[in-house]
Amino acid sequence: MTDTDKKLHAISSNTVWHHATVTRELREGRNEHKSVILWFTGLSGAGKSTLAHAVEDRLHKLGCNTVLLDGDNVRHGLNKDLGFTEADRIENLRCVGEVARLMTDAGLIVITAFISPFQAEREMVRAMVPDGEFIEVFIDTPLAVAEERDVKGLYKKARSGELKNFTGIDSPYEMPVNPEIRIDTTRLSAEEAATLIVDTLLERV
Ligand code: ADX
Repeated sequence: MTDTDKKLHAISSNTVWHHATVTRELREGRNEHKSVILWFTGLSGAGKSTLAHAVEDRLHKLGCNTVLLDGDNVRHGLNKDLGFTEADRIENLRCVGEVARLMTDAGLIVITAFISPFQAEREMVRAMVPDGEFIEVFIDTPLAVAEERDVKGLYKKARSGELKNFTGIDSPYEMPVNPEIRIDTTRLSAEEAATLIVDTLLERV
């Protein structure tokens, strides 16, 4: 056992799980909808944040209780100590997955917008919640299109070598194998995409 494993073992064997009396089911009953995770994944500049906010806006107007976790924002607070190496991204997504799961316990529809480049970490989060409660939304924008738009000017920096480990340039992006929703942003407008996502979600909650 490594030192970290020993520490984790000591913590888990000396702590006791408290069961809530106000359960997730009670919260879902009051909210009149189920709690799920709507997990947006895609390249930087694919349109994840824009669409995630549009979807949240519509759900809010429909009376749903939502929360949105956005990559850039989380990296200013909760995970500001993490960078973009493979190990740091994995830890970023593990933390976000745990936070998202806790928020589903609170009865919320959780919308997340992270590049989340690795299939294994997306599957890890999927496994954290009951079957059917992780909805993977692949914002499918080709690298050439995201790079052409380069809204934040980061692709330019990555190409010049000023920014290392940039997704799609010198760090990989593994496309979802079987996402619940795939949005081809070269064919759908933002309005059409938001409608498709909300309609698919409402069939499930
Ligand atoms: S993830 O890979 O760990 O899921 P996350 O979504 O949190 O990434 O953060 C991505 C955002 O950080 C991008 O939208 C971009 O604005 C910024 N960023 C800064 N450096 C990098 C980098 N090397 N690779 C990707 N995104 C970066």
